[in-house]
Amino acid sequence: MIHPALPEIKETVCETEHSCAPLNVIGRSAFRPDAPGKLTGQAKYVNDMAVHNMLYGAVVRSRYAKARIKNIDTSKAEKMSGVVCVMSSKDLPGPNYIPLVRCDLPLLAADEVNFAAQPVALVAAETLEEAQAAAAAVEVEYEELEPVLSIDEGLEKNWILWHYQQFKGDVDSIFNNPEPGMHIYESVYTTSHQEHAYLETNGALVMPDDRSGWVVYGSMQCPFYVQKAVAVVLGIDFQKVRVIQTVTGGGFGGKEDAPSTPASLAAVLSWKTGRPVKLVFGREEDMESMTKRHPSRTVFKSAVDKNGRIKAVDIHYYVDGGAYLTLSSIVLWRGMLHAGGPYNIPNLRTLADAVGSNTAPNGAFRGFGQPQVVFAADAHWDDVACQIGMDPIEFRRINMLHVGDKLTSGQLLVESVGFDEVVDKVKQVVEYDKIKALPKCKQDRFQRGIGFSVSHYGVGLGANGGPNNFSSANVVVGSDGSVRVAVGTTEIGQGMTTVLLQIASEVLCCPYDRIYLSDSDTAQVPDSGPTVASRTTLCAGRAVQDACRQIRQRMDDFLKDKEAMDWKDSVTACWIGGVQMAAQGYSRPGYKQTFEDQYGQGDAYEVYTWCANAADVTVDTWTGEVKINRFVSGQDIGRALNPALVEGQIQGGALQGIGYTLMEEYKFDKGRILNNNLSTYILPTSTDVPEIVPVIVEHNYSWGPFGAKGFGETPLVPVAPAIINAIADAVNIRLKHLPATPERVWEALHNSGVSQL
Ligand code: MOS
Repeated sequence: MIHPALPEIKETVCETEHSCAPLNVIGRSAFRPDAPGKLTGQAKYVNDMAVHNMLYGAVVRSRYAKARIKNIDTSKAEKMSGVVCVMSSKDLPGPNYIPLVRCDLPLLAADEVNFAAQPVALVAAETLEEAQAAAAAVEVEYEELEPVLSIDEGLEKNWILWHYQQFKGDVDSIFNNPEPGMHIYESVYTTSHQEHAYLETNGALVMPDDRSGWVVYGSMQCPFYVQKAVAVVLGIDFQKVRVIQTVTGGGFGGKEDAPSTPASLAAVLSWKTGRPVKLVFGREEDMESMTKRHPSRTVFKSAVDKNGRIKAVDIHYYVDGGAYLTLSSIVLWRGMLHAGGPYNIPNLRTLADAVGSNTAPNGAFRGFGQPQVVFAADAHWDDVACQIGMDPIEFRRINMLHVGDKLTSGQLLVESVGFDEVVDKVKQVVEYDKIKALPKCKQDRFQRGIGFSVSHYGVGLGANGGPNNFSSANVVVGSDGSVRVAVGTTEIGQGMTTVLLQIASEVLCCPYDRIYLSDSDTAQVPDSGPTVASRTTLCAGRAVQDACRQIRQRMDDFLKDKEAMDWKDSVTACWIGGVQMAAQGYSRPGYKQTFEDQYGQGDAYEVYTWCANAADVTVDTWTGEVKINRFVSGQDIGRALNPALVEGQIQGGALQGIGYTLMEEYKFDKGRILNNNLSTYILPTSTDVPEIVPVIVEHNYSWGPFGAKGFGETPLVPVAPAIINAIADAVNIRLKHLPATPERVWEALHNSGVSQL
């Protein structure tokens, strides 16, 4: 991939650079423009939409995890009431795949199915009930085959979807010739699936349109991904497809690439029938067939010298990619780069493999391959610290990264490393020393403990992101002084609208409530890259800042000899004076593209967010239940542009991490998910929310808008090791598998003799 030359990092000031006084909208918890619609129910989600002549789609799905398709008989379904068409793979207008890293995911299974609930055929009918009844009547004859259902089975079959690696120094010489007093320890950590559990399932409405070609409405993070997928599947120009993001009820990564599936399925039905088709997945089919967090296994071996300094790390990270590659290579890359933890590690070898299995493809999920390795790394380091008799925070302090240090990729940390401050504040807020000093009585049923964890997070897509790293933004100032901002990233509940409007307001010096954000509509907004990787505030924000600066600069040049005016009057004067009041802004990451894949060396990400978490827990040794008394989550995010949104992200991310750590897992039977709805898939509800204390640290990033970095994902990333380490502190058992359900905790207590039952 060819990258355009990038500029050197400049020393940029983090304030506005124009003549008018700062509004100080930045750093304030500005009102969310999308809140009233969501609160009152006026917000229109895709399933709220109905258009004239609309049909309903339904999907025929595989019953088996792996099978040969011998025959598909649609004759009975075609004759049923209300049915307009039934389609299988041979009826498609264009190529039978959804374009991603590799074009391996079929739209409709042709000769074989490779995961349970894989789409095999489609129905369009006048009502949803008729469509579903007809889908159930399509007769598919299968020859069932033996599926691959775990990382171990995938490795046995040598089914490797992707490999990455990173090498630094000489790991073998350290392990083979250990110096006196060196502590060498190896352990294995495993994790399960996690469900995004967005409130709104995936879905799309596609309609033919005489002006646009095809119009797609849907719930999604990345409209330009959906545009590409639908265009490829229909075999037409991208610009023949207009994608409009509807109000989106949560994504968490599960609407990064995944919405291409319902949109493309609805599109081929619409192509076939010439009518609008709505296809919204039911909860069960969404849970059975859509992406989840990758299960993982991490083999982690370390060497630490007698002073507690990390000398070498040897890691093998495996993720279960599911049946097709989709985004697993990119998930793997992020995981690999963060695998050792945020420490000075002189010698490291990380091998990373995405292994295939006959399960639904696993994909993007908040943290994107990091929560798994961060659990392994920071549970491991905590264990090592205790084994060598060192306080776990002290161990981290000795080894942690600072400005001037190099990451395992060799990347030099030049700025915005608030790591010390995050660790200090979290330690203080959670009252670490006080809880550590509490007397323990081994006979007590309830045992209290405190656990700590740290992580870093490379913001944005990094060196692997290529053209998706760039963002554009259009800003137009109307003659009355109201302003329109257009970007191709999306509001998915995270607060993008608010933050981008705050940036525009501050730079233009325009009142916040006079700025409006365009819908994310591919016919109206520029491509700002995907809404993923905690990149929106940083990348789209920087593009908005750039566009607004251009306009403000022109206004300042025109107004410089005139007396001071408020926003409205200054706009009027500029309009009358013929000042160009529209601009396109552009954002590119402030670093050089030096990364190479053979050794995994080079600048991987433009900047990093630094986190420390602490969990104060009580373990019920009779039942294995873990109660979180208090959870403290500290984040160096550069600058909190909107503190209320930052706190909301921290609380939501921490809770999603708590679910990941203690509750959430899928149960399978021959590759078919058994707990396929929200009553059997256990995740935290409002009654499970402990006290979550956000700690915000601001070490400004000079290349970020007003000093901000991105951080939407990071609050989830280090949650698991904090809790698992707290359990270890409470009852002296080291759990190495997530989730740590009461059953697993009880079993470990029982095996270690702690449990009295
Ligand atoms: Mo996000 S998990 O990078 O969509």
